Amino acid sequence: MIVLGIESTAHTFGVGIVNQKGRVLANEKASYTTTEGGIHPRAAADHHWENAPVVIRRALSKANLKANHVDAIAFAQGPGLGPCLEVAAVCARFLALKFNTPLVCVNHPVAHLEIAWQRTRAGDPVFVYSSGANTQILCLENGYYRVLGETLDIGVGNALDNFGRAIGMGFPAGPELDKRYFLGKKLVELPYSVKGMDLAYAGLVTSAAKKIKTENEADLVYSFVHTAFAMLTEVTERALAHAGKNEIVLTGGVAASKALREMMKKMAKDRGARLLVPEPEYCTDNGAMIAWTGLLMHRKKIHARVQDSAVKQDQRADHVQIRWHR
Ligand code: FE2
Repeated sequence: MIVLGIESTAHTFGVGIVNQKGRVLANEKASYTTTEGGIHPRAAADHHWENAPVVIRRALSKANLKANHVDAIAFAQGPGLGPCLEVAAVCARFLALKFNTPLVCVNHPVAHLEIAWQRTRAGDPVFVYSSGANTQILCLENGYYRVLGETLDIGVGNALDNFGRAIGMGFPAGPELDKRYFLGKKLVELPYSVKGMDLAYAGLVTSAAKKIKTENEADLVYSFVHTAFAMLTEVTERALAHAGKNEIVLTGGVAASKALREMMKKMAKDRGARLLVPEPEYCTDNGAMIAWTGLLMHRKKIHARVQDSAVKQDQRADHVQIRWHR
């Protein structure tokens, strides 16, 4: 059984191919970046349209397959940026119709969790999914991914990018901020917004942006990153206690951050918990996660007709019934 999955919810157009053993036969991508400013949805979609045929062909040739060898075509149905989502949806519908192959609609955050679970071989973890647009702490409970805590405004990745933009960086700013985190010495006080089990990042960005002129930049970067991740670590610790779990799986683009990993690792060690992180190519947006989740769904015959496969810009992870675990 072979499934091809297509991802295009935001900045990345990705195509993954997996087999029934969970082996990734191809995981190709093309990502939209800027040297200045953030993502423009229309420009990102144009990038995806331009790259789609090449990336699909590259994935097939890497897997040494022809499109008619694929047993199901999966795509990320949502959430995401409308113009970007359309690209994967149109490519997947075309392939499904042309080769008379079942079509599978995959929720993007659920796909992050599924591939992270599979790669780390975790038992029953708390997931910390933090990316540009998303920041959620979840675990599987009664056939749904239950959101234990989440951002009330922007994702932590967007917060990093917005602050990075304010100090003159391009998109994505996270990796550069992460390097500079280790150069700061003094903690500048910034708003720490944890509300119950939820988080808010917009105030932190505004306050830090106001301090650019008056504070040392290295210290401000350190303080911004420290505050943003300390909030996330605090909520994760309480999620572990509340859900009675002892494994943390970090995923999403921000899981690549060394600063976040170090903070989470310390917290995990203090609690006697384990921190697990998949390889970076499976943390950031990728086609393999869509293909793998598509395969789990295809096995349970969870298919969609083309006419029922509209993209869902605000489909949440906890809206999807998880019928493929146990
Ligand atoms: Fe993502």
